[in-house]
Order: sequence, then C-alpha cells, then structure tokens
Amino acid sequence: MDSILVTGNGPLNGQIPIAGAKNACLTLMPATLLSEEPLTLTNAPRLSDIKTMTALLQSLGAEVSSLQDGQVIAMSSHSLTSQTADYDIVRKMRASNLVLGPLLARFGQAVVSLPGGCAIGARPMDLHVEGLEALGAEIELKDGYLHAKAPGGLKGAVHEMRFASVGATENIVMAATLAKGTTVLKNAAREPEIVDLVECLRKMGAQISGEGSSTIEIQGVDRLHGATHQVVTDRIELGTYMLAPAICGGEVELLGGRMALVESFAAKLDAAGVSVTETQNGMKVARKNGRVQAVDVVTEPFPGFPTDLQAQMMALMCTAEGTSVLEERIFENRFMHAPELVRMGANIEVHGGTATVTGVETLKGAPVMATDLRASVSLILAGLAAEGETTVSRVYHLDRGYEHVVRKLEGVGAKIERIKGE
Ligand code: EPZ
Repeated sequence: MDSILVTGNGPLNGQIPIAGAKNACLTLMPATLLSEEPLTLTNAPRLSDIKTMTALLQSLGAEVSSLQDGQVIAMSSHSLTSQTADYDIVRKMRASNLVLGPLLARFGQAVVSLPGGCAIGARPMDLHVEGLEALGAEIELKDGYLHAKAPGGLKGAVHEMRFASVGATENIVMAATLAKGTTVLKNAAREPEIVDLVECLRKMGAQISGEGSSTIEIQGVDRLHGATHQVVTDRIELGTYMLAPAICGGEVELLGGRMALVESFAAKLDAAGVSVTETQNGMKVARKNGRVQAVDVVTEPFPGFPTDLQAQMMALMCTAEGTSVLEERIFENRFMHAPELVRMGANIEVHGGTATVTGVETLKGAPVMATDLRASVSLILAGLAAEGETTVSRVYHLDRGYEHVVRKLEGVGAKIERIKGE
C-alpha cells in the first residue's frame, strides 16, 4: 500500500484547481438508468469511487466510457441485463445504493445489497426504504439484499423523511421522476449535490421544483431522454484546500470555488481569523494575522457545517489559539483521525460525539494511519504544518475522494511526495 510523505515547509502560495464533486457524480451516474438514451457528464473527477460506480453500472449492462482522461463520462442504459447490485461492489462503496431508486422506477424491480457498516458508522438504509415504500414499492430484506418491486409502477405520494438524508433524498427523487402522479418530499436534504442532480434530471425531461429547499415536488413523466451535464464543483475538496493556507500561512486561490457552496464553512474560518474572498476565478484564502483562533463547530445537514469537513477543521483547530469543541451530529464514529493527530502532539479529548481540542503551538511530524477518506486528508493538512516529516499510510482512502493531491499541493509549495508501497 502506498503512503504519502509530507514535510512541514512553511507558508503556501499559488493556485489550486478544484475538481467536479465526487458526491454529485456518484448520484448523477446512476441517473443514466432512468433513460434508454445516452447521458454524458463533463467535469467529472478522476477518483477510484467513480471507477467503482462505473464497474457497478457496467455489471448491470450499462455502457460506460471514460473520455478525455476521465473528465467526461459517456453512459447509455439502453439495454440493461441485470437489476442486481452485488454485495462485493456495494460493500466497497455505499453510494452504490443509489441504483435502487432508478432501477425500481424504470424496471419495477431491483435487488440491491445492503452496504454493511463502514468506518464512520452503521450507514443503514431505513430512510431510503420508507421513502420508496411511500411510492408504492414492496421491499423486503433477504440474505443481506433489499429485494424491491413495484409491479404496477410507482405512484406519486406525499412523504416526510424522519431525517434529511442525502442519499435517501437522491433515491426517492430519482424514483419519483417516473412515478405516476405527483410526489412531495418533505424534510428533503438541501445539499448542492442534490441541486445538481435535479438540474441534470430536468435536462432529461423531469419535472421537479424546490431543490435546495426542504420540500421538493416531482411530477412523474412517462420517460426521460438523454442529456449532457457538467458536474458541480466539489465543495468538500474546496473546503479541504481552503484549510491549507489557513494551517500553513500564505495565500492560495482555489480555482472554480464559489462562496455559495461553502458559506457556513467560510463563516467559521472567518471567525477563526482566516479571510476568504471571492475572486474572478474562484476564492482566495489567507490568515488575517498570525495564529488562528479556536472556534466551536457543530456538524449539520446543509446549509450547516458539513460533516465531511469536520476532520479537516479539527486539524486546523489543533494549531489554533484556545480551545475548540467539535460536535459530530451526523455520523456516530467520525473521530478516528483524533488519535492519529494526538500522535503528532495534538491535545484532543473525545467523549462520544464531542471532541475538545486545545490548540498547541506546533505539531510534530510522525508516522500516522488514514482510517477513512476525510481523515486521510486531515492528517496531510496536519503534516503540512508540522515540524519534520509525517508519513500517512493507507492512502487508498485518499484516492477515493481526492484527485492529484500531491500535484495540487506541490503546486503551492508543499513538500509532499507519494511513496510506492509493496
Ligand atoms: C452522503 O452520504 C455523502 N456521500 C457523505 O459523504 C456525507 O458525509 C453524507 O451524505 C452527509 O452529508 C455521498 O454523497 C456519496 P446520509 P449518505 O444518508 O447519503 C443516517 C464522503 O466523505 N441514515 O445523509 O450516506 C446515516 O447513518 C461521504 O464523501 C440513516 O439512519 O448520508 C448517517 O448517520 C462520507 N438511515 C446520517 O443519516 C438511512 O436510511 C446521514 O446519512 C440513511 C442515512
């Protein structure tokens, strides 16, 4: 397994291009199953999760080709051969469960493995099942697979989700596009990736309104046609790299960044003493003066502070002046980066869903282990600011969600390299 070697190297200066959003692409790709006409995505990120979704769609009989070095994904689900998403793929990537709604809507049946747990939590699918059953689906769990069917087709309904689940919103909205009648989904998730999915579905002929709010209304149509859609900028990659100048000093411009994607995160950085300004080509980030100040963080569904930036923010708080309390309200086990940061000299106490971080002047480089996607990049950020060398192992986690990390950080003056493992 490869590792990443980072050596603290002072302030960072320059530009970092931000790619298309992994979590938008992972819901846009299954949307191809809703139509027999081609769906093409541009500005797609080059990530291992995208390769996993490609393999899943191909296992269903879809044609998926990656063009222009992976930045364009051309898909066609004209003649599918299977409606079963196998455990061996789904367990690797939970987002595989996003084929459930589209398969059910187009074919009236689907067999999708439950994803099983992952490092950050149990990741159940009860909210997905409740929403699809509200549309008339019959779903039962057998041998670890959800067996779903809707022999007479799905029917529009009014449904309120118990929690604003991102994935459940995406599955229910995609299914409702081909249901008979109107669906009103209440307490829907408001993430920008859902807005991007709806914009793509609308290009395919879907009739949807309210995306980005808590109530989404979908008028079912008989069929959807093909489309071409540009994947929205990745707000989590954006937020991650905004933290690089914040933790190291210097000034970095994030090309393609938009304030609307990271408002609550940018507000927290501002309160911590980091200036975030919009530019012609994106956003510029720099410390306002010296050391950043500790701020408290609570993770919430969008537009609240994103759980996917909690680990990275913790790295910054490890070097802040004062004490910061980070409350993780979305996932039950998303502090695995904390013990690794402690190995670098951080002062962190974790009690249940709350981590209390007392900032230290400097972190010390050390060998650390990535435990999940966002934890891996949190450790890299800490290594950029630490004295000495930090080796982050198990970087396959990183490859799931960040393209060209070494190249992007080297580009702004970081001392970082990838060490080939056995
Ligand atoms: C999406 O996961 C993202 N993944 C996650 O990003 C992100 O952390 C999460 O939304 C929250 O923003 C993709 O978009 C591919 P949820 P998802 O359903 O849809 C519980 C990353 O790092 N829940 O909003 O799985 C669940 O256990 C990944 O890129 C149920 O209880 O998130 C969790 O505690 C990590 N029952 C909470 O809700 C359900 O049926 C939020 O889950 C579904 C979810």
